[in-house]
Amino acid sequence: MTDTTPQVLLEPWSEEDAGLLHALNAPELMGHLGGPETEEQLVRRHRRYVDLSSDDTGAGRMFRIVLPPEKAVVGSIGFWAQTWDGEPVYETGWSILPAFQGRGLATSATRAVITEARAAGPHRHLHAFPSTDNAASNAVCRKAGFELLGERDFEYPPGRPMRCNDWRIALR
Ligand SMILES: CC(C)(COP(=O)(O)OP(=O)(O)OC[C@H]1O[C@@H](n2cnc3c(N)ncnc32)[C@H](O)[C@@H]1OP(=O)(O)O)[C@@H](O)C(=O)NCCC(=O)NCCS
Repeated sequence: MTDTTPQVLLEPWSEEDAGLLHALNAPELMGHLGGPETEEQLVRRHRRYVDLSSDDTGAGRMFRIVLPPEKAVVGSIGFWAQTWDGEPVYETGWSILPAFQGRGLATSATRAVITEARAAGPHRHLHAFPSTDNAASNAVCRKAGFELLGERDFEYPPGRPMRCNDWRIALR
């Protein structure tokens, strides 16, 4: 069967992506992520993303998601080092601007980020932790080939309880 999922490009998060981060902070996109962040939190997040993208120690990478041929900027994705159940792993997360949702772009970007994480460092697994009621994000995990390990309790942001699915894919 032919794979009709659109191909996206992952480009390193850079100084010019502050506007994208603001657009992705819209209430309808942050509903499963603790709600919109403050201006101060966004400034800090943007700095973290820029710094991570110039890191060459395997700590992770952040990307803007770009759709050819017009090179429309459609969202964000990345991976970062994390300790999970005592094991060093990578975690991933993503957002797609509302105008571009429902076309398979998050699934395509997630497949691409798996390749990036595989190339980046020594970690054996990449995890994703969507809220159990985030139907779209759980579908992305399933379609990109992650295995569902079960449900876990989180606090995100700190102090706000959240029930998440633990999805995992092997990197090596
Ligand atoms: C999650 C998100 C990135 C999905 O983006 P997207 O590009 O629309 O996803 P895709 O088009 O690749 O869709 C993947 C699957 O999800 C399904 N899906 C999309 N929206 C859905 C919804 N609201 N409810 C149920 N399933 C949904 C699609 O049908 C598709 O499955 P299918 O091809 O079998 O039909 C987007 O909804 C988003 O940015 N949400 C806000 C941020 C967020 O919650 N991020 C997750 C952090 S872990």
